[in-house]
Amino acid sequence: MFDNSGYFCIQSRVWIIEAVLLVWLCWSTSFIGAKDVTDPVEVTALRAIKKSLNDPMNNLTNWNRGDPCTSNWTGVWCFYSKMNDGYLHVQQLQLLNMHLSGTLSPELGRLSYMTILLLNGNKLTGSLPEELGYLPNLDRIQIDQNQISGPIPISFANLNKTKHFHMNNNSISGQIPPELSRLPELVHFLLDNNNLSGYLPQEFSEMPNLLIVQLDNNHFNGSIPDSYSNMSKLLKLDLSSNQLNGTIPPGRFSENITTIDFSNNNLTGTIPANFSGLPHLQQLSLANNSLSGTVSSSIWQNRTSNGNETFVVDFQNNDLSNISGTLNLPLNVTVRLNGNPLCTNESLVQFCGSQSEEDNDALNPVNSTVDCTAVRCPQSYEISPTSLEICLCSAPLLVGYRLKSPGFSNFLAYQSMFESYLTSGLSLNLDQLKIDSVAWEEGPRLKMYLKLFPEDVNNSSEFNRSEVLRIRGMFTGWNIPDSEVFGPYELINFTLSDVYKDVIGSSSSSGVSTGALVGIVLGTIAVAVTLSAIVFLLILKNRLKKYQTISRRRKSTRISIKIDGVKDFTYGEMALATNNFNDSAEVGQGGYGKVYKGVLDDGTVVAIKRAQEGSLQGQKEFFTEIELLSRVHHRNLVSLIGYCDEEGEQMLVYEFMPNGTLRDHLSASKSKEPLSFAMRLRIALGSSKGILYLHTEANPPIFHRDIKASNILLDPKFIAKVADFGLSRLAPVPDIEGSTPAHVSTVVKGTPGYLDPEYFLTHKLTDKSDVYSLGVVFLELLTGMHPISHGKNIVREVNVSYQSGMIFSVIDNRMGSYPSECVEKFVKLALKCCQEDTDARPSMAQVVRELENIWLMMPESDTKTTESLITEPGKLVSPPSSSTPTKNPYVSSDISGSDLVSGVIPTIAPR
Ligand SMILES: *[C@@H]1O[C@H](CO)[C@@H](O)[C@H](O)[C@H]1NC(C)=O
Ligand SMILES: *[C@@H]1O[C@H](CO)[C@@H](O)[C@H](O)[C@H]1NC(C)=O
Ligand SMILES: *[C@@H]1O[C@H](CO)[C@@H](O)[C@H](O)[C@H]1NC(C)=O
Ligand SMILES: *[C@@H]1O[C@H](CO)[C@@H](O)[C@H](O)[C@H]1NC(C)=O
Ligand SMILES: *[C@@H]1O[C@H](CO)[C@@H](O)[C@H](O)[C@H]1NC(C)=O
Ligand SMILES: *[C@@H]1O[C@H](CO)[C@@H](O)[C@H](O)[C@H]1NC(C)=O
Ligand SMILES: *[C@@H]1O[C@H](CO)[C@@H](O)[C@H](O)[C@H]1NC(C)=O
Ligand SMILES: *[C@@H]1O[C@H](CO)[C@@H](O)[C@H](O)[C@H]1NC(C)=O
Repeated sequence: MFDNSGYFCIQSRVWIIEAVLLVWLCWSTSFIGAKDVTDPVEVTALRAIKKSLNDPMNNLTNWNRGDPCTSNWTGVWCFYSKMNDGYLHVQQLQLLNMHLSGTLSPELGRLSYMTILLLNGNKLTGSLPEELGYLPNLDRIQIDQNQISGPIPISFANLNKTKHFHMNNNSISGQIPPELSRLPELVHFLLDNNNLSGYLPQEFSEMPNLLIVQLDNNHFNGSIPDSYSNMSKLLKLDLSSNQLNGTIPPGRFSENITTIDFSNNNLTGTIPANFSGLPHLQQLSLANNSLSGTVSSSIWQNRTSNGNETFVVDFQNNDLSNISGTLNLPLNVTVRLNGNPLCTNESLVQFCGSQSEEDNDALNPVNSTVDCTAVRCPQSYEISPTSLEICLCSAPLLVGYRLKSPGFSNFLAYQSMFESYLTSGLSLNLDQLKIDSVAWEEGPRLKMYLKLFPEDVNNSSEFNRSEVLRIRGMFTGWNIPDSEVFGPYELINFTLSDVYKDVIGSSSSSGVSTGALVGIVLGTIAVAVTLSAIVFLLILKNRLKKYQTISRRRKSTRISIKIDGVKDFTYGEMALATNNFNDSAEVGQGGYGKVYKGVLDDGTVVAIKRAQEGSLQGQKEFFTEIELLSRVHHRNLVSLIGYCDEEGEQMLVYEFMPNGTLRDHLSASKSKEPLSFAMRLRIALGSSKGILYLHTEANPPIFHRDIKASNILLDPKFIAKVADFGLSRLAPVPDIEGSTPAHVSTVVKGTPGYLDPEYFLTHKLTDKSDVYSLGVVFLELLTGMHPISHGKNIVREVNVSYQSGMIFSVIDNRMGSYPSECVEKFVKLALKCCQEDTDARPSMAQVVRELENIWLMMPESDTKTTESLITEPGKLVSPPSSSTPTKNPYVSSDISGSDLVSGVIPTIAPR
């Protein structure tokens, strides 16, 4: 009994201590925000993005200092709550209308959490980097009104979440990839005013959510696919000003369609009567084609709409010979038929008048009961529509606004609908909005000048500061909900009259605000709290450690599973090995979680991979994975020693590789001795053998999926060991909402720069995807370059040099002299591995065989030195680790039997 209460006593003390510590730690971290920094990968990417831009107006000068998210870099918007990985991430990049020139850096592809990318209205040149397609969370991409050239990369077919795709008014050329039809969320597809050519893919009709399609003003040829009339939600289809031929699709278009424009093409045949009775059709333009035959007047007679909408039928300049059906024109319908043979018929000339000026819509005036014309308002003030009875002067916010692809062609009929749409979107009263002017522009686009007036509360004449900021944020942050009818919008300007200049100015220049003061005070307190917490921690650390183990053991609901050759570690053992997962023991970080260096009880040095919250998986899956990994043994693969599955933690324990990653040795920055060509070749051969084993000997075969230089580790003898295989299913890519997809197998995993373009596109994983990534590693070995750096893709770069006979200009000169014919053969092999076309790549077995051939071609002196160099004790060799993993007796034998050239490479083609 005494024992029990004594135990209880200890337990409860531990609980209290834990609770107190927890509270203190939470306080200190949340106030100090020590970890409130942007993901370093994204910071590097942003710097590279800036580097490739010219910024004549110095909009981006504040990108030179501080942290992108916490120092408010211009145009960078972040998620201000931390993600699972503890970092802040870039949510939006808004660099519109900034007079930027230069090119789009492929590093944009690293802002993987980004949802909105706005670069419209600049002078950007160059092509669209395929890396943009690596942005799985992108909702909106706008690069319109630039001078971008080149084709649309096929990788864009991966933009699974993209709703708004605006690339109009550039010089984009080439065939539009039919693969884009896989985009499930696409709503607005704007590619007008480019140099696109080739055919219109019929597959586009498969996009389930398309509302607005603008492909006008390009060089498309061939015919309009019949399938386009099946797009069920379509509001607007503009294919005008191309070189389309053939006939008009006979099918019936969407019931909601408002605009069909096929004008200025080379269409032939007759006009299908199916255009009749479409209830919302406002514009049907087939002008300037070679359409012939008889037109059925039912197209405009059979309207079933509310009759208040106008309907313009424009069939000018065709070969139409007659009109069938009744000829009296309904209200609000305009029919234009001049320039057709039928105009010689006296009875039809009513349709053949010359086109009246396309007048801009007049606005419905605001009704006023009192005449305020006598009232003179001070500058920047005008009579507010919110209080016309008393002729109140108030200061409006002035907004230049443009509907980029309105789903209507007559604004008058939509004005009141637009007013309520916009004011409710902005949370304003209907009478706070005055549309000062509207003007149709080329496109057609609708430009407006809006005035927003303060709410009539106590006859206030100005908005208060927070309201100004809120409204501006609604426009600049695209927070006004999308409207199907009004389509995408853009902000032209948001002008603050002198009245508001101070209001906004004070926010950015007033130095220390109250909020900041509070922050500083709290921060100071927090520092004190943390310091005392650290002292407290140190005192209690030893005592706590003992008790923790007891409590952890008791809380554990561990199912112990015996897997031959793999040890089952407790949480306590792992904590002990890493000094309680001390930061100083951290040696790396990956998608899966952190990697620690640890020393086990028996002195074995190990690498411990600890899954972070969010990449944990079900126990069954975890053990399946371990079971699989336990059966994989090869001298060129990093061995699994054990695992830990306790306390809601999942860890994998590997042999430790003291020489680090291949990447470390290739980077010039690291003060590592450069690798000779012979050593590089040997590393290439070793890695290839490891991967060949995974493909052909492991059962089931394992595709690595994430081969890269930082996943190739070097043992004390500089023998390459491939790491992280089989972890594919352990590291699902979390999406923005933090949820992890249920079927990871369909998620493209991998690292930009190493990704097989074909896998990327098809999501079909093959052994050739690994061949591609390995080819990239080979190119790194040869050139020392990163796969993507300074906006350049290694495959492209090396290919260009190779084609132009300049290959030796890109070879890493840090590896000293080398036999040029061997280097040349190696380059050739590497480039072959990186072919876009899967079938053109060699198999893994062929790669190994070719590398062996190159090895045999090497002058003996070179290979000898390598051998002696790497076995010479004390120089490059670290103290031997005692970590010889328990070999599994039923594992198939190491296929690379002898040291380097085995001669027993299996000739089986990989599955
Ligand atoms: C940066 O912007 C955020 C969000 O708009 C704001 O809360 C913060 O105070 C700003 N920080 C600075 C240093 O201006
Ligand atoms: C797009 O390009 C066309 C043709 O060059 C031009 O008429 C139109 O004004 C441009 N639109 C925008 C919004 O820049
Ligand atoms: C349409 O144009 C394409 C390509 O310009 C051509 O191959 C085809 O024969 C044309 N079809 C018709 C019906 O004129
Ligand atoms: C047509 O528009 C209405 C109103 O916006 C909508 O409820 C309906 O679902 C649309 N029809 C189709 C086929 O999308
Ligand atoms: C299309 O028609 C125009 C005008 O009739 C003609 O100049 C042009 O050659 C035609 N283009 C094609 C591809 O048929
Ligand atoms: C047009 O409406 C009339 C009368 O409702 C109907 O008889 C005729 O079939 C309709 N024509 C078409 C092409 O829908
Ligand atoms: C439609 O016609 C009626 C009668 O002429 C007219 O009053 C109304 O303004 C027209 N509607 C539009 C949108 O033009
Ligand atoms: C803002 O845009 C509107 C509409 O394009 C234009 O009329 C106005 O002059 C612009 N104002 C400024 C200050 O650029």
